[in-house]
Amino acid sequence: MQLASSCEILHRLFLITELRISPFKLRVIIEKDYEAMSRRAAGIIAKEIRRKPNAVLGLATGSTPLGVYKELIRMHEAENLDFSDVRTFNLDEYYRLRPDHPESYHSFMFKNLFEKINVKPENVSIPDGMAADIGLFCESYEKRIKNVGGIDIQLLGVGRDGHIGFNEPGSSLGSRTRLKTLTEETIRDNARFFDNEGEVPHFAVTMGVGTILDAKKLLMLASGSNKSKAVRDAIEGPVSAQVTASVLQLHPNVFVILDEEAASTLSRSAYYVYVEKMAEKFEAEAGT
Ligand code: F6R
Repeated sequence: MQLASSCEILHRLFLITELRISPFKLRVIIEKDYEAMSRRAAGIIAKEIRRKPNAVLGLATGSTPLGVYKELIRMHEAENLDFSDVRTFNLDEYYRLRPDHPESYHSFMFKNLFEKINVKPENVSIPDGMAADIGLFCESYEKRIKNVGGIDIQLLGVGRDGHIGFNEPGSSLGSRTRLKTLTEETIRDNARFFDNEGEVPHFAVTMGVGTILDAKKLLMLASGSNKSKAVRDAIEGPVSAQVTASVLQLHPNVFVILDEEAASTLSRSAYYVYVEKMAEKFEAEAGT
């Protein structure tokens, strides 16, 4: 009896150590499809808001987070998820695109999320691509994030070249909010939102890699086979400024949520699935 309970304790210690050192640091969650990925991510954000009603959310634009925003709106309407004290900071905005331009990230965020939840407009921050002095604006954006105590959870998509925010390959891993020149690949990828490629701005104001790393929790999503290489490079490749998403490996609290296609070229996906099962078991036992 005595021996059995010691074994049990040892087993639990082993589980805790294993899970704390590895999967709780960078959890790779593979969901069946885009909808399941979106629901899982929205659940993590909602949990954060329920834990801390004035949570500071870092938000992203693009195709990837649309499903998350849809699910958050549903939770707001059907489950009273309350955004009245939530503060938000967006990752990026095109340079010299007026906020009321239909493809500005301002327009995107209001249309796809803010107009449909009860977040207060004064609690919303999106980089100002029209600021007369961009350098000064970037400094003030960093200060604003600091003044609210930092970002609690940062939502991220990933570009096909492995960028997060608009931190294109070669961005300094310590970079802060600044003006970036977009690569031709990113301009081509984003042309689908504009009437033609010539209309896509060539510059953007973006949080830096260092700014993103300062968030307390990171939540990176990827869907579709066209993202599978970027995902593999980010998770299983070396940490490198050539793939800025690879810095996630240096952060202590990361969720990477993928659909099966985005995860299709990972070499250790069976292990990630196993670890996730163990992590869920641990959480259920620990009641977290
Ligand atoms: C957008 C952003 C970008 C996108 C990335 C993927 O705010 O920061 O890094 O997340 O370009 O874009 P989608 O989701 O359109 O494939």
